[in-house]
Amino acid sequence: MKNVLIETYGCQMNQADSGIVGKILQDNGFRLTNDEREADVILINTCAVRDNAEKRIHNRVHDLKSLKKRNPLLKIGILGCMAERLKESLIKEDKVDIVAGPDSYRRIHDLINTTEPSVDVELSKEETYEDIVPVEINTDGISAFISIMRGCENFCSYCVVPYTRGRERSRSPKSVVEQAEKLFSEGYRDITLLGQNVNSYFYKEGEQTTNFAQLMAMVAQINPLLRVRFATSHPKDISEELVDTIAKYDNICKYIHLPVQSGSNNMLKTMNRKYTVEDYMKKIEMIRTKIPDCALSTDVIAGFCGETEQDHKQTIDIMKKVGYDSAYMFKYSDRPGTLASKKYKDNIDEKEKVRRLEEIIEVQRELSLQSNKRDIGKVFEVLVEGESKRDARKLYGRTSQNKVVIFDKDNNTKGDYIKVRIDDCTSATLFGKKL
Ligand code: 5AD
Ligand code: SF4
Repeated sequence: MKNVLIETYGCQMNQADSGIVGKILQDNGFRLTNDEREADVILINTCAVRDNAEKRIHNRVHDLKSLKKRNPLLKIGILGCMAERLKESLIKEDKVDIVAGPDSYRRIHDLINTTEPSVDVELSKEETYEDIVPVEINTDGISAFISIMRGCENFCSYCVVPYTRGRERSRSPKSVVEQAEKLFSEGYRDITLLGQNVNSYFYKEGEQTTNFAQLMAMVAQINPLLRVRFATSHPKDISEELVDTIAKYDNICKYIHLPVQSGSNNMLKTMNRKYTVEDYMKKIEMIRTKIPDCALSTDVIAGFCGETEQDHKQTIDIMKKVGYDSAYMFKYSDRPGTLASKKYKDNIDEKEKVRRLEEIIEVQRELSLQSNKRDIGKVFEVLVEGESKRDARKLYGRTSQNKVVIFDKDNNTKGDYIKVRIDDCTSATLFGKKL
């Protein structure tokens, strides 16, 4: 029996995909391992969204060459977005043995079993893997991801995803609910429904149609002890119906990730985001009115093509205006083949990009600190996720708002819901006492 190690980089969607690959391999006589020394095959599930994500993978493949020297039969495979983007060149340049794009996983065992280097990067309009119940890899037993749709058709000008993950397609609600029920019965308590743009989830069977808000409600009704989250929403499409659904169910987490990318209408236009700052703020007001305790996070890109100092300042303005609880912040990285790469000049020099990014990070650090300070004295229901890595006498868990809380262990364990009063914080963590 061959041992396979699957390494995952990039987004949560990749995490879910690695579980699918793991299941297909198990069903075809392979054994999954975490130990690279006993692996006959190492599959690296990759991200192509920024240049530094790809550099990291090239380095990892290079490092694995020493293992290959010791074990010449070792096969190395590249899966996911970078496989889709770079195709055969990974075999020529990086000397890997297998290249499989995101829609080729049903054949992964065939690709491993051939003697010659093998490539399959065909994209599909239908593949959702909905009949495959993924294995949970590197799991804490509490949190899990369910991919509800694949692909993206938004074509934001900076983004490679529509090219690496292809057309949008949704899984049947029945298969999503069944997977969530199974995870709940196995002890999982926090499930994130995933899609590049969950708002375009849509499934039709005969006369019966299901949209994303309806799917969320179906999963929330499985059990009140199951927390339900989702990622990611596009600001242009987040609907009142979805926000009402989040408000209606206590177990749908009061946390929305709504990537703004920039606070400048000029940049939003060049980015092809299809909303203005004013549209975005209207959505934020709608969320704040309907769900007053909702946490908000965002993605921001610094130094996009043609970004002026004024555009940059407007990004900082919108961050302060919304008062995000957390943010993922990046400097722009040109991706060959995207609209921006073809149409606009990547004209902000590296030093300036870094300066703008650092300024943004500093603003967010202060906003996160203020947000956490506002929680001092409040009581939250915390789902225990595990032992604190720094102190075995403590546990950590998350609030519905997705904030990490550290508190004394007492007699509690993973999977418990406990009430904690917050008494201290940093910009990244809340500290509290069990009530
Ligand atoms: N450069 C920098 N950041 C990018 N993102 C997507 N493409 C790029 C790029 N070319 C960021 C966006 C997106 C997140 C997943 O990654 O902020 O929301
Ligand atoms: Fe990276 Fe985007 Fe692919 Fe996820 S979908 S792995 S973020 S390129």
